[in-house]
Amino acid sequence: MRVALIGANGQLGNDLLPRLQAAGHEVVQLQHADIEITDATNVAEVLNPLPLDLVINTAAYNLVDRAEDEPDVAYSVNALGPRYLAQVCQNHGWRLMHLSTDYVYGGNSNPAARPWKESDKPHPSDAYANSKFTGELFVEAECSRHIIVRTCGLYGLAALRGAGKGNFVETMLRLGRVRKQLRVVDDQRCTPTATVDLADSLVRLIETDAFGLYHATNSGSLSWCEFAREIFRLAKMDIEVIPITTAEFGAKATRPAFSVLDGGKLASAIGGPLPDWHEALARYLASRTEIV
Ligand SMILES: NC(=O)c1ccc[n+]([C@@H]2O[C@H](COP(=O)([O-])OP(=O)(O)OC[C@H]3O[C@@H](n4cnc5c(N)ncnc54)[C@H](OP(=O)(O)O)[C@@H]3O)[C@@H](O)[C@H]2O)c1
Repeated sequence: MRVALIGANGQLGNDLLPRLQAAGHEVVQLQHADIEITDATNVAEVLNPLPLDLVINTAAYNLVDRAEDEPDVAYSVNALGPRYLAQVCQNHGWRLMHLSTDYVYGGNSNPAARPWKESDKPHPSDAYANSKFTGELFVEAECSRHIIVRTCGLYGLAALRGAGKGNFVETMLRLGRVRKQLRVVDDQRCTPTATVDLADSLVRLIETDAFGLYHATNSGSLSWCEFAREIFRLAKMDIEVIPITTAEFGAKATRPAFSVLDGGKLASAIGGPLPDWHEALARYLASRTEIV
């Protein structure tokens, strides 16, 4: 397949590129310097001349708290960008795979605490989530051959090289080197996901004839406090992790109390679930020691 990968030097893009190539796809890598997805003219100028079957959009504005102060910037990258990509893909009959987020469930109450299925109605409650959800709606409305994949809490080795906003694992390891005690939110439950596992699942998904919306995270669920404790246990760092509430942490944007995603639909499409989060974290920590 001939694939344009947008956001090629981001966390996910870095792990997706070699997997697409290893699977035999011809990939045109597009970094931010190569394409500006908020500019409809530029999007058309860059993509129109390319012979393609599929565009994968991993580019995004991911600064969740800053988005509260600059919602127009978040909207431009996360909603209008995907819209312009959808329009070009529709004109050519190309497939568009677009990445979205568990934060679309930020405002939902979930008394049963059951993982969210693709059929559950989103209720985004902050500027970032609103911009991402609007992007989903544009892609769905304007490109008939779309695949939208919602994921959660990405961590990939590219963050070590400065890609994107960094990731939670690297933040914990950095803070753990200078503090003996850390306060970490314990009342948000989700499933942080290794970009290598997400990338593997995306490559398998594009090789099916699947269309529509999919949830893709590592398996299992946990709080950020539990995740921090496991990071330090595996890294053999003696750090006391104190559980706090979201209110005590006091971030600017609201975050979902429960955004565990049900991956059953994806598992059926690609022949199995993504690996468990413990295993994914252990693999990540082992692989990062080879490059730091
Ligand atoms: N990171 C997470 O925890 C998380 C959680 C849930 C869902 N997601 C979604 O998963 C996808 C991949 O996330 P990620 O962590 O790989 O993101 P990332 O590391 O921040 O990478 C995003 C890439 O997009 C590029 N980009 C930003 N604005 C652009 C624009 N206007 N035009 C073209 N390129 C632009 C960035 O380039 P520059 O850095 O050079 O600007 C960067 O290389 C995104 O859709 C994100 O919303 C991420």
